[in-house]
Amino acid sequence: MLNGEKMLFSGMQATGRLTIGNYLGALKNWVTLSDEYTCLFCVVDEHSITVRQDPATLRQRARKLLTLYIAAGLDPEKNIIYYQSHVPAHAELAWILNCFTYIGELSRMTQFKDKSAKHEDNINAGLFTYPVLMASDILLYQTDVVPVGHDQLQHLELTRDIAIRFNNIYGEVFTVPEAYIGKVGARIQSLQDPAKKMSKSDENENASIYLDDDRDTIIRKFKRAITDNEACVRFSDEQPAIKNLISIYSAVTGKSPADVEREFEGKGYGEFKLAVGESVADLLAPIQKRQAELLADKDYVDGIIKNNADHASYLAMKTLRKVQKKLGFPERPR
Ligand code: TYM
Repeated sequence: MLNGEKMLFSGMQATGRLTIGNYLGALKNWVTLSDEYTCLFCVVDEHSITVRQDPATLRQRARKLLTLYIAAGLDPEKNIIYYQSHVPAHAELAWILNCFTYIGELSRMTQFKDKSAKHEDNINAGLFTYPVLMASDILLYQTDVVPVGHDQLQHLELTRDIAIRFNNIYGEVFTVPEAYIGKVGARIQSLQDPAKKMSKSDENENASIYLDDDRDTIIRKFKRAITDNEACVRFSDEQPAIKNLISIYSAVTGKSPADVEREFEGKGYGEFKLAVGESVADLLAPIQKRQAELLADKDYVDGIIKNNADHASYLAMKTLRKVQKKLGFPERPR
């Protein structure tokens, strides 16, 4: 039923409204790679509570995210699409791996530093150990490859370090995973400040294209996107705003940045920005339509959730039992 022999794991948080950065940096690559691997795509709802969430909203967003995975082209018959909170082994392994992770390592995580600056009134222990839960997600499934955007690389490095440390003590327990970063789209920046990552939590609505934005909104936001002052469409670090728009257009259309430069040679920023906006709107329209259909089909989606959680639990328990045995936890009498 599942695809390749090698394992792929990735996940997204069900917090905030997802952006085109989430799609181009991660989800799009998941779809491309899914034919080659046995894949688990997780809605990481346990990660979300490091920041306070409204329960009803979290539940609704988690379901929207799960249906988005399918709407974007991941076949739930061939890929294991599930909620993290349905598989208790994630949290159990996280406890164990906490005992193999150093405070110094966690203190260096840039995401922790950023988030604690943003949520000064709630710098909880979960925010600090968040990367250990992420390592558990990955290591539970003997994952070979983890497709993510650039901002998750540091967490991936830590995951590898934890796996190697554990293996050095107990033998080859975990597969040491590799990150997969797409050639274009791994680092989509804000449309209003190319020095900043496009993010779900940006206060400026015009900075991000949300996956549920309608066509007019998408085109309007691209029209308002800031540009540089060289008045030519060139993929260069000297023109970070235009470079970002070219990256988006390249990732959406599959054209190389050099092809995009040729296509818009001698043309103005206005024409270019309209083309980018239209390409993104065309890309998102069928995904939004399919997602709405799935959200309306409760029984179908509930069936997927149940079957896939069982499948993920089965795989996760194999690794967890092995780890527990290595550590010396008593075996359960049968
Ligand atoms: P999250 O939910 O913030 O983002 C999900 C994925 O989207 C990518 N991404 C971007 N890529 C390019 N440009 C952007 N502007 C952009 N913004 C987000 C992220 O790199 C990510 O791949 N900790 C993770 C979720 C997670 C996870 C895991 C991922 C939990 N466990 C195990 C992989 C494997 C996170 O917060 O991603």
